[in-house]
Amino acid sequence: MANILLGATGSVAAVRVPALVQSLEAAGHAVKVVATDAALYFFDPAPLGPDLVRDADEWPGRDAGGRYERGDAVLHIELRKWADALVVAPLDANTLAKLAVGLCDNCLTCVWRAWDLAKPVVLAPAMNTLMWQHPFTRRHLRSVAADLGAGHIPGHLDDLPLIAQINDRSKTLRVVPPVTKALACGDVGVGALAEVSAIVAAVGEVLARAAA
Ligand SMILES: Cc1cc2nc3c(=O)[nH]c(=O)nc-3n(C[C@H](O)[C@H](O)[C@H](O)COP(=O)(O)O)c2cc1C
Repeated sequence: MANILLGATGSVAAVRVPALVQSLEAAGHAVKVVATDAALYFFDPAPLGPDLVRDADEWPGRDAGGRYERGDAVLHIELRKWADALVVAPLDANTLAKLAVGLCDNCLTCVWRAWDLAKPVVLAPAMNTLMWQHPFTRRHLRSVAADLGAGHIPGHLDDLPLIAQINDRSKTLRVVPPVTKALACGDVGVGALAEVSAIVAAVGEVLARAAA
């Protein structure tokens, strides 16, 4: 079906990355994962083998004094070329902020900074309730959405109407809203990663929409 690059960031919800990979593959997609260092605290990357990319893979041999040589591949660009769609799930508050302002200090955010804006993107945020409800979150989502074709979205909208407008207006971006439940930190509230099935469905929808 499609080549899906799955970005995983340092939310506790990264424990669901293996299940998400499995479901995307069951839907017929080829999947590679690019994980931040923080994401790797939450799941075992070993079963994914070479389909799991870490930040260190961008800099082969650096710790041993190795240097880039002309002709060496630039991994984040190779991943960008390979991918038909980028899915960031879970998307934590830190990486959302980086996506919004263009910071690119790891492999995932370099892929994002070099992304072909005509290709589909799915973002599935996951964070503590107060992080989710902080004004930064909506500001950053509006900013990302504006860059992906949603235009200016008024600042007063609450999170769900905001996400509905983003998903309605952008041809390439689909935001999968977090859900309400007891969070790993003990708080009960909105901020938990959406169900894996909802994320996989959003991938199918945004691929179809982008192809229409
Ligand atoms: C146990 C633990 C759980 C965390 N869960 C979340 C989370 O669900 N959402 C979030 O935005 N940040 C969470 N964080 C904070 C991020 O891991 C932290 O901001 C980190 O710098 C993110 O790096 P990254 O964006 O490069 O993956 C958590 C941190 C710890 C130690």
